[in-house]
This record gives sequence, structure tokens and C-alpha cells, in this order.
Amino acid sequence: MATRSALINVMAKAADKAARGLVRDFGEVEQLQVSRKGPADFVSAADRKAEDILRAELQRARPDFGFLMEESGETQGRDGHRWIVDPLDGTTNFLHGLPHWSISIAAEKDGEVLAGVVYDPIRDELFWAEKGGGAFVNHTRLRVSGRRKLEDAVIATGTPFKGRGDSPAFLAQLGAIMPEVAGIRRFGSAALDLAYVAAGRYDGFWETGLAPWDMAAGMLIVSEAGGFVTEINGARDPLGTGSVLAANDQMHLQLLRLLKSAAKPRVAPRPQAPSAG
Ligand code: IPD
Ligand code: CA
Ligand code: CA
Repeated sequence: MATRSALINVMAKAADKAARGLVRDFGEVEQLQVSRKGPADFVSAADRKAEDILRAELQRARPDFGFLMEESGETQGRDGHRWIVDPLDGTTNFLHGLPHWSISIAAEKDGEVLAGVVYDPIRDELFWAEKGGGAFVNHTRLRVSGRRKLEDAVIATGTPFKGRGDSPAFLAQLGAIMPEVAGIRRFGSAALDLAYVAAGRYDGFWETGLAPWDMAAGMLIVSEAGGFVTEINGARDPLGTGSVLAANDQMHLQLLRLLKSAAKPRVAPRPQAPSAG
């Protein structure tokens, strides 16, 4: 059985407290679907409330840590530590009454992620990891999938949406990967996508345009479960660039090759010589 450190306990407790409010609000959202205006304002308020709870809980437990939070931005700390927090990852799902969303919290020291939790309150699954200590879901150890062949692989991704992302680049990536694999999924919470790679449910995940709070906890959970995490071009700064590719070592290599082929500039057709006569 996994023994959780004091730091993980602080994060788990905060996530649990914020989750109680979100679960209550999620019940309301289901009622609001039928109203003409929909639940958008209500959901923004739920999101902010969850962030306030997380901030208060985390600050009480570790008063010297700073914050990087999706809704309220950056707050300087006093000892080089900072919390990176997404109070609600999967907002579009939440807004539509789709039960797949999460809370993501990472603890960072001088730019290095030390610990992370991703909590799915609907399934009561707490994914967590601490650097060097392995990754877990609740009390069970996690290991990335052992599949080695693309043809057996289920790969998750995130699609660009209105006003966000580079659709042509994404379609090229999808065009390269889709014909090679058993299935592609777009579930809508990047934090859970990474946690599911750690759990071996997905064989890989790629997305671009993410923010640090979408990824910081999930990336550590994947690497502590034995997976590889880079940018989609193989470079080593996913948190800095928002580009992420996570998978087991074999699958990572193969996905990287496909993604690189998708990034190659298309060769423009040669101009035709004017026909005589
Ligand atoms: C989003 C989710 C989604 C991803 C988007 C993120 P939010 O976060 O992680 O899966 O595709 O890029 O912005 O807005 O629900 O916190
Ligand atoms: Ca997010
Ligand atoms: Ca969010």
C-alpha cells in the first residue's frame, strides 16, 4: 500500500474540499442545460469558487509557497516553492453536464515539479506522484502501458476549438497518426489525459497550446509511472511551450516520428510550364 507524504496529503485534502463544491455545482449544471442562456455564468462562478477554496487550503498548509493559478494568475512566494493549480480542467465538459473533469495541483521548487495530484471527483480517482516515489491512483501503483505496436494503441489528443489552436497543423498531426493506430480519443481534460497515460489506459497523448496548470501534475505522474514526456518535436520543455507528447518509450519514439513527418512543410507542386500553342 502506498504511503502518502505530508505534501501529497496537503494537496489531496485541498482537492477533496474543492471537489465537494464542484460536485454540488455539477448537479445544478445538469438542471441549467435547458435554460436558454445555459449555465455559462454559473460555471465561471463554480470555477472561481473552487480556486478560492484551493488557494485558502494550500496557503494555510504552506504559507511560504507562491501560486500560479488559472483564474487568478501568479503570486510570488517566499521560499522558491509554488503551487501550479487548475481548479477545473475540462470546463467544456462540466458546462455540458459531461462527467469527465478534474482538479490539477502541482508543487514546484525552483522550476522543478516535485509532486502532483489530479483528482477526478466523479470516479473518486486521485492520481498522484512525488518525484522519485512512483505514481499511484488511490492506493494502487501505476505503470504506463506495455503495448509496443501502433496498430494496438489508443491515443488521446486535444483538438483546437473556436478561437484557440492551429487547426491545419492539428489536422496534419491527426492525418499522420490516425491511420496507424487502433483509435483516437478526445475526452477534454488534459490533466486526466496524462493521468490515463500513466495508468496505461491510453498508450499515448499529444496536444499543443496547453498551459502549465493543464500539465504540471500530469507530466510528473506519467514520468513516475515509467513514461516519457517531451514536446511533440522531442524537445524537453513542455511546460514552457505548452506542447506535449507522453507515452511509453517505444510508443513515444513511433509517435514522435509520425508527428515530425506531419510537421514537415508540404512540398508545393512545381509550377507547370506554359503549354505551347
Ligand atoms: C482545457 C482542457 C482541454 C484542453 C484545452 C484546455 P480547461 O482546460 O484541458 O482538454 O484541450 O486546451 O484549455 O479550459 O478546461 O481548464
Ligand atoms: Ca485546463
Ligand atoms: Ca480550468
